[in-house]
Amino acid sequence: MTSKRNRLFIVFEGIDGSGKSTQIERLEKRLLSMGLSVHKTFEPTHGPIGAFLRRILSGEIRVDPNAVAHLFAADRTEHILNSEYGIKRKMDQGAVVLCDRYYFSSFAYHGLEMDMERVIDLNAYNMYLLKPAVNIFIDIDPAKSFKRIEKCRKKLDLFETEATMKQVRNLYFKAFERFKDQETVVAIDGGQSEPEVEKAVWNRIQHLFND
Ligand code: ADP
Ligand code: TYD
Repeated sequence: MTSKRNRLFIVFEGIDGSGKSTQIERLEKRLLSMGLSVHKTFEPTHGPIGAFLRRILSGEIRVDPNAVAHLFAADRTEHILNSEYGIKRKMDQGAVVLCDRYYFSSFAYHGLEMDMERVIDLNAYNMYLLKPAVNIFIDIDPAKSFKRIEKCRKKLDLFETEATMKQVRNLYFKAFERFKDQETVVAIDGGQSEPEVEKAVWNRIQHLFND
């Protein structure tokens, strides 16, 4: 069955520990119970470029931040186009694709180290290839998400300090403003309980599933 509702590409964005993965799981369950086919995915990917990126993020390998931004853009192109697990392939097979991070993550995180316009340039091809039906931004006070991360993980990634998360949050808003005429962004208060966030997300995207 091919209809509008099962070729959707939905992206979740937010600072680290904002609750993206939790909400993707919850939305997946809801969509499965509606009889839809769902493909969950994330960036950095589990592909070869994504694996390399995780080694950089953990601090194991040192690479210039400008080059890191290129690698994320390349990982994304592979993520979109891979003939086996790529997002376009999964959409062609009729799945709703739920993705944990996409190009707005690049604008916000690499905007820390370089001019955001350059990061946008690097992602021009990705933006041309595939635009999300909606970018769901789970907005949370960095102090709160940082407490969550500390509680559930021993080792923190390169970007994970509370001050950095504050800057990243601001850069997300700058990027949303920059693309306000081209992109659909829905901001949700991530400081609520998990079921409350889920309900708020659903209220804002439900219309996409009415065909
Ligand atoms: P992200 O994928 O954005 O990094 P996670 O979904 O992994 O975030 O959530 C980070 C931590 O916070 C996890 O331990 C998760 O159980 C917890 N968490 C997620 N959503 C909430 C919420 N609404 N309230 C309290 N804790 C939450
Ligand atoms: P992720 O595994 O999603 O972390 P979390 O679950 O804590 O949100 O992402 C790993 C890190 O990669 C995260 O700190 C953000 C960073 N990142 C970038 O710097 N640029 C990008 O383009 C993407 C997709 C992620």
